[in-house]
Amino acid sequence: MSTVLIPARGKRKSADLWVSGCFEKDRPSKELGTLEPEFAKSLSMAIEKKRFSGKFGEIFASYSGAYREAPELMALGLGQKKNYRPACFRKAMGVVAKKAKEIKAAKVRICLDSFTAGPVNLEVAAGRLSEISQLALYRFDRYKSKKEGDGKPPPAIIFEAMVSKKDSGAKLQKQIDWYHAVSEGVVRARNLINEPANIMNPEQLAREARQMAEEKKLICKILGTAELKQLKMNGILAVNQGSRTPPALIILEYGRFHKRKGTLCLVGKGVTFDTGGISIKPAKDMEKMKYDMSGAAAVIAILGVVADLKLPLHVVGLAPAVENMVAENPQRPGDIIRMYNGKTVEVLNTDAEGRLILADALAYAAKYSPKAIIDLATLTGMCAATFGDKAIGLLGNDAKLINRVMKAGEEAGERCWQLPLWEEYADQIKGYHSDLCNIGGPYGGTITAAMFLKEFVPAKTPWVHLDIAGTAWCDSPRYDCPKGGTGVGVKLLARFLTNWSGK
Ligand code: BES
Ligand code: MN
Ligand code: ZN
Repeated sequence: MSTVLIPARGKRKSADLWVSGCFEKDRPSKELGTLEPEFAKSLSMAIEKKRFSGKFGEIFASYSGAYREAPELMALGLGQKKNYRPACFRKAMGVVAKKAKEIKAAKVRICLDSFTAGPVNLEVAAGRLSEISQLALYRFDRYKSKKEGDGKPPPAIIFEAMVSKKDSGAKLQKQIDWYHAVSEGVVRARNLINEPANIMNPEQLAREARQMAEEKKLICKILGTAELKQLKMNGILAVNQGSRTPPALIILEYGRFHKRKGTLCLVGKGVTFDTGGISIKPAKDMEKMKYDMSGAAAVIAILGVVADLKLPLHVVGLAPAVENMVAENPQRPGDIIRMYNGKTVEVLNTDAEGRLILADALAYAAKYSPKAIIDLATLTGMCAATFGDKAIGLLGNDAKLINRVMKAGEEAGERCWQLPLWEEYADQIKGYHSDLCNIGGPYGGTITAAMFLKEFVPAKTPWVHLDIAGTAWCDSPRYDCPKGGTGVGVKLLARFLTNWSGK
C-alpha cells in the first residue's frame, strides 16, 4: 500500500474509486472545489435533495459508472465540523480502505481538501492517510491455505491524495514518508506478535531481530545462555528454566556516532509464551499469551523505524526473550534468585515473570549511561482491568520524561494515563527471607509491579514504564487493526524519538 500526492489540476489517469468528505449541513461548492465538476455537481444535487446529511460514516453515492473516469464515487459523511479531530479522519480513511478492498480497487483518489477542518490540516491528513492505508488493510493470513476473497493475493492499493498544486510540496511528502516508515514498523511488530509461540520462541525472535538489523544496518548482539550465566542475569535464566528453548537478551543499537548527544534505552518484555509457570494460568484465553512479547516486538520494530527515519540519536533497544513454561526444571514458588544487580528476590508467584526478566535488562542498561529509559511490557492483568484497551498505564520517576511520553502518546493516538509510584507501596514488595518478593498482594498490582522494576533502574536515571497489557491485543476488529496484536508503542515511540531529536 502506498500513498502518493497528485496535484488537483491538470491531466491525470483515471482511478477506480473517488472519495470526498462532506460535513453535516455543508454546501458542496466550498468543500468540493478540487473535484471534477461532474462529481461535484452530482453530489451537490444529492445534498440539495437532502439525500445526504453528512453524519459520520454515512456514505452517499456509490454508483458504478456515474462518471466516465471514476467507476465508483463515494462521498463520506464526516459529522459536524466542530467535533472533527485527527481520529475522525483516521476512522474515515478506515471506511475508505475497506470500501477500496471490497470493490478491488487498485487506485483510490481522495480529495484531501474536502477532509480538512479544524485541527485536521493538509499535513495531518496526508500523514494519517499514509498511516491508515497500511494499517487498515493489514492481515495476518500466512497460515491460511485459502486466502480471503478469490484466493489471489489482494492487489496493492495506491492511494492518491489529491491536493491543489501549491500544497503538493515537500511538507506533505515529509508527512507521508514519516507515517509510511512508522506504519511499516507497526506492521513488523504485529507480525512478530501474531506469529504463534511454537514458531516465535526466544531463538526465533532473536533471529528476526538479527535479520532486521542486517537489513537496516544496526548493531545487533544476542546474549545466549552462556553469556547470561556469565553476567549472572539470573532473572532471565530463572524464568526460562522451564523451557527447552534457550533464552536470549536481544540488543539492537542505532546511531553510535550520535552518542555525544546522549543515549536512550528502550526495554521490551519478550515472553514469547506465558503459561504462568508452576503458578499456572487458567486455560481460558491462555492462547492469547503469545502476545506477552509485545513490548519486545515494539522495541525491535522501533529500532528499524529509527534507522529508516535516520533520526540523529543514539538508541539502544534491549529485549529479554524467554518462554515461561513448566517442563524441564522450572522455577518453584519460593525460589530465591540473585538478580543481575545483586538484589535477591523470592519468587512467590512464577506468573509474575515479566518483572524478573525486565529487572535484569533495566539494570544492564546502566552500561550505556542512558539519558532516559523507557520500558514497554504486557506486565499486569490489573492494568487491562483498569484501563481496558483505551489507555497505556504509565509510571515513572521523572516528571519531565513522563510529560514528554504522555505528549507523544497523545499525538500518536496511543494514550497513556499515569499511576503513582509512591514510596508507601514499597512495603508490599519487601521480601521476608530476601530483599524483595515478586508480587505485591491483591491490591494495586500495576503499581507494585512498577515499584519492583524501579528497584532495578540504574541510579539517577529518568525512567518511564509503560504497561501495555490492555492495549497490545485487539479482541474485536477495529477500523485500523484486525483481531490480534496491535503493535502498540511503535507509533508512540516514533513520535517521542522524533520530538526528542528535535527534527
Ligand atoms: N503476562 C501477564 C500479564 C497479562 C495478563 C497480560 C493478562 C495481558 C493479559 C503477566 O506475566 C502476569 O501473569 N501477571 C500477573 C501478575 C500477578 C501474578 C502478580 C497478573 O497480572 O495476574
Ligand atoms: Mn505471567
Ligand atoms: Zn507475562
